[in-house]
Amino acid sequence: MSTLSIATAKEVFDLLRDDLAAIEQEFTRQSASNVDVITDIAQYLMSGGGKRIRPLLLLLSAKALGCDNHSRIRLGAVVEMLHTATLVHDDIIDEAELRRGRPSSNTTWGNAKCVLAGDWLYMQAFSNALEERNFRVLDLLISLTQQMVEGELLQMQKLGHLINEEEYFDLIYRKTACLFSVSMQLGAAIAPPQSFANPAEIDSQLGEYGRNLGLAFQIVDDVLDLTAAEGILGKPVASDLREGKATLAIIHALERGTGADREAIRTVLAQRSFTTVSHSQILEILERHGSIAYAMDTACAYAEAARLSIADLPHSDAKRALLWVPGFVTSRDR
Ligand code: IPE
Ligand code: IPE
Ligand code: MG
Ligand code: MG
Repeated sequence: MSTLSIATAKEVFDLLRDDLAAIEQEFTRQSASNVDVITDIAQYLMSGGGKRIRPLLLLLSAKALGCDNHSRIRLGAVVEMLHTATLVHDDIIDEAELRRGRPSSNTTWGNAKCVLAGDWLYMQAFSNALEERNFRVLDLLISLTQQMVEGELLQMQKLGHLINEEEYFDLIYRKTACLFSVSMQLGAAIAPPQSFANPAEIDSQLGEYGRNLGLAFQIVDDVLDLTAAEGILGKPVASDLREGKATLAIIHALERGTGADREAIRTVLAQRSFTTVSHSQILEILERHGSIAYAMDTACAYAEAARLSIADLPHSDAKRALLWVPGFVTSRDR
């Protein structure tokens, strides 16, 4: 084993290759329905790609605590299925036309079928989780789903309005970081209890890691929405402003901008289009105030906080991999 404390991408992939392949198979098995359209939508999304970061976190958390039974595969597929259900519903809500580089499922099958398929995927994820016969697992998943739905609803209430950083962090915790946190905590929930002395402390450290990492992840998602190219991102760009969503860089510029800058941003948020003010005008404002750099610095600070959250975890390959993930999250381009 290398003396360096942070793994390389190749080491992480080598460590998880078999488990991730098993999760793909498990996902296919779990998403098979008698009603073809459900299986078709699930398989369509699955085969479109995706980073699989939530199952990856669950696997690393479980491995770091010495768990290598089938539960990690089953629950890895469960968290990816919950994520898939949220993507199906999110694209309907956001009226998005692209996901993972292909037409979104709502574009292909229509909203009505996709709402129902998303519901089915949620319930199937719970049904599979139930097979664990572990109340802690259900507790985590139920409060997670409520947080995510509340997050989407709160976000909807705030569309078109100027929000402050506190409101922004509350929203991104609910819609994204909570699932990262729960993926980590599920690893602890299925690990053999004798493998660690203080379960409550380990649960809280892993949860904190997921929370910090998830906040960094969504801040980067929001930056990429402003700066990335659609061909690389695989989903619509500059869509948050067109949906009336003020994200971290925008909030920063609104606080520091001139009257004219603020007016330009307000106009895009209110009109939900770039008709009067262009995307490049907004980018120029953000650049002038260092707002993109501010958002990326904030993401990097949360990524570092994630690393610190697991400082006390015993040394292992899984821990070294967990120390690699934050850098991957902040340097990604899709
Ligand atoms: C997209 O998640 C939704 C957000 C929380 C931003 P990912 O960026 O993990 O999407 P995939 O699974 O890799 O496509
Ligand atoms: C992610 O928010 C919310 C989910 C839980 C799916 P976004 O609306 O920013 O996600 P993308 O950018 O469409 O993937
Ligand atoms: Mg969206
Ligand atoms: Mg986004």
